[in-house]
Amino acid sequence: MSELLDPARPAPAEAPPARAPDRMAAPPDSGLDHRQQALRALGSALLARGYRFICPTPDTQAIVAARKPQARDLRDVFGWSRPFAPDLLPAALLSLLRQADAVSVTPDGLLSRLRFSTFGDSLLVHSAWPTTQNDAVFFGPDTYRFAQLIRRTLARRQRDRPLAPPRTVVDLGCGTGAGGILAASLLPPRAATRILFTDINDAALDLAAVNATLAGVPRFTCLHSDLLTAVPDPIDLVLANPPYLLDPEQRAYRHGGGTLGIGLSVRIVEQALQRLAPGGLLVLYTAAPIVDGRDLLWEALAPRLARTGLRPGSEVRYEEIDPDVFGSELASPAYARVERISVVGLTLQRPAHAGVGRAALVALDALDALDGVNAPDRRNDRDDDCSDDDRDDDRGPHGGARRSLRDPASESGED
Ligand SMILES: C[S@@+](CC[C@H](N)C(=O)[O-])C[C@H]1O[C@@H](n2cnc3c(N)ncnc32)[C@H](O)[C@@H]1O
Repeated sequence: MSELLDPARPAPAEAPPARAPDRMAAPPDSGLDHRQQALRALGSALLARGYRFICPTPDTQAIVAARKPQARDLRDVFGWSRPFAPDLLPAALLSLLRQADAVSVTPDGLLSRLRFSTFGDSLLVHSAWPTTQNDAVFFGPDTYRFAQLIRRTLARRQRDRPLAPPRTVVDLGCGTGAGGILAASLLPPRAATRILFTDINDAALDLAAVNATLAGVPRFTCLHSDLLTAVPDPIDLVLANPPYLLDPEQRAYRHGGGTLGIGLSVRIVEQALQRLAPGGLLVLYTAAPIVDGRDLLWEALAPRLARTGLRPGSEVRYEEIDPDVFGSELASPAYARVERISVVGLTLQRPAHAGVGRAALVALDALDALDGVNAPDRRNDRDDDCSDDDRDDDRGPHGGARRSLRDPASESGED
């Protein structure tokens, strides 16, 4: 990973990804349909006009959007999702928005059904606010934090143990494709890595293709997959920012399922343990419900990880990234026992020699059959199988820490 081969290279101050335009050559539109090409052209036109928009939380968006009812500039239209008069937009931009079938007529004026947000040097197109639809395509502050985790993790790994570029990077639950686009920007110019954008939501795959093309990702595939189920081997790097809340409407970008939203995150860890190639890496950005000072995600994962024999601190790292997000969720009855929702980063690296993960998981299956707790559908995963030491502490901004795998009780709760 070229940037990683040059750890002295500074990261940009604001947004996490640094795309090197010289390496990410002008993309062809091949593979995009007419509507996607219009979106890609709209993104290019906005970039050419110097458009920038940092996507805030939904709460912030609601407050700011309410301050003025009508759009006055491009950021109002494509960032703040404000209604606009037809003559506000240059005709060429309105035409592209129409070709993309992304404009609605409302009593207050026209409305773009999509937003464009700044991500490094590029723009990512995603759903307009409010994201009420079941198939809304997510992008937000979590994505910016996810990108920082990816950047930190890959830089550390490359510094401590330089490796050949991955053959495949899976952006699992890709949404806009931000994770895979960032990974592509960090690869050496001649790396033949393929980025696999996967999601259960086809609307996300549709926009990820536009975003990857706009950002100049040279080799990518979009694949409908429930987690890693449809992903072929080999899998060298998995990047995941899955849903981690309990959403009464069960929207794909929000609903994590399982106990207090941890279901998908637990399944991702189990699938990664089973499917990662030797030396492969999982970078999981997710959240943990904290109940009576206990981190329920860690309590679910620790026994499973302990049985794999992976070494804490090097092959397994668990860090708190933000101790308190989505505080407003705690008012809902489903969260009555939860005192806070903590954003965490989990990185897992399979040893470079083969055999450890699968052997460990056979034992794990047997144990799960006995305890039945959070047992995932691993049998399906297997049927569908298309198959360092880190010496620095790298604590998160709020004091995240590496965890012991042997004694989760002593480690649970706030760091
Ligand atoms: C919180 S969004 C994150 C999107 C993107 N990775 C980012 O960081 O901005 C979670 C994504 O996971 C997808 N997802 C939910 N359940 C999934 C599943 N079972 N398999 C694959 N993707 C899933 C959603 O459709 C959504 O795009």
